[in-house]
Amino acid sequence: MSASRHRWADRDDARLMFILSSERSGSTLLRFLLGEHSRLVSPQELFILRYPDFATWRARKPVAMESVLEFFHLLGRPTSPAAVEAACRGRSAVQVYQWMLAALPPGAVLIDKTPAYANEAASLERSRPLAPFYVWLIRHPLGVIDSQVRLKSKLWRRKVARTGPIGKLKANVGDVVRQVRRHDEGIARRREAKWVAQNRTIAAFLREVAPGQQCTIYFEDLVREPEREVGRFCAATGLEREARVGRLGSAPEMNPHLGDPNFHQHRQVDAEMADDWLARYQESWLRPETMALMAELEVRRPRVAPPPSASQTTR
Ligand code: A3P
Repeated sequence: MSASRHRWADRDDARLMFILSSERSGSTLLRFLLGEHSRLVSPQELFILRYPDFATWRARKPVAMESVLEFFHLLGRPTSPAAVEAACRGRSAVQVYQWMLAALPPGAVLIDKTPAYANEAASLERSRPLAPFYVWLIRHPLGVIDSQVRLKSKLWRRKVARTGPIGKLKANVGDVVRQVRRHDEGIARRREAKWVAQNRTIAAFLREVAPGQQCTIYFEDLVREPEREVGRFCAATGLEREARVGRLGSAPEMNPHLGDPNFHQHRQVDAEMADDWLARYQESWLRPETMALMAELEVRRPRVAPPPSASQTTR
């Protein structure tokens, strides 16, 4: 057997990949970049692994039916919620994947990127019988925190703006109240804790996975050198390198509950996002346990010194 036969993508059961990450790590971007590959099918977040069986998934995450429908649409075999219900009733989560994977054409691979899988080790454990390939996407925690704080503030402003003509006034007063109460700092600290917990869960899980079945991508490397990073991913998986992969094609509209709601605001892979948080945060704000995990995971640090105006805490 030649050495290349040992690569994951050459195996007969190479049908499924998971992108594991904390939310706001650039997972939607990675999903679209990889989805340009002719062998990869990458729908919106599936959430299937999060629940033990189809019935629980259906009851707890009804919106994710859209992702299953998108999967079949991408295969050129559109289906309906009723048909999915009929086929999956009584199935476990693993059996639902097996049913979906059976629909793939020869050589095709489904990519499931659902950051919520990193919330519980039990979700990740469920994936083992499927022998998937795992892509661990790691982003600097302050990049994740900054994105989360901006998103929450934007959603909040949008919500109050809908409350009538005095909405704008309410938003401005609310901004002051939020600052006084250090509301954003609370959001930031909760996100920091979640970044630590999720990445620890992923690290512990991947320790028990064979090296040939996993690779790590750093967000900061990805946005600075997308084609090189996708090339590394292809080498790690054994997938053929294709010229267009690593460039952002035209991405379809997405449900904001199943991916990054701001994705379409970026027209290309934006390298400045690597260190954008430096304008608002300093690493000294992070807790020691976060810094320790960053060192362990070899998180990419900023290449430039923080500007003098960067706040010690939140914005
Ligand atoms: P913000 O737009 O709030 O900065 P996820 O998909 O895991 O939720 O991650 C979303 C984040 O990925 C975005 O959050 C942004 O930081 C980053 N991102 C999305 N599209 C990008 C692009 N085209 N170039 C660079 N970064 C991008």
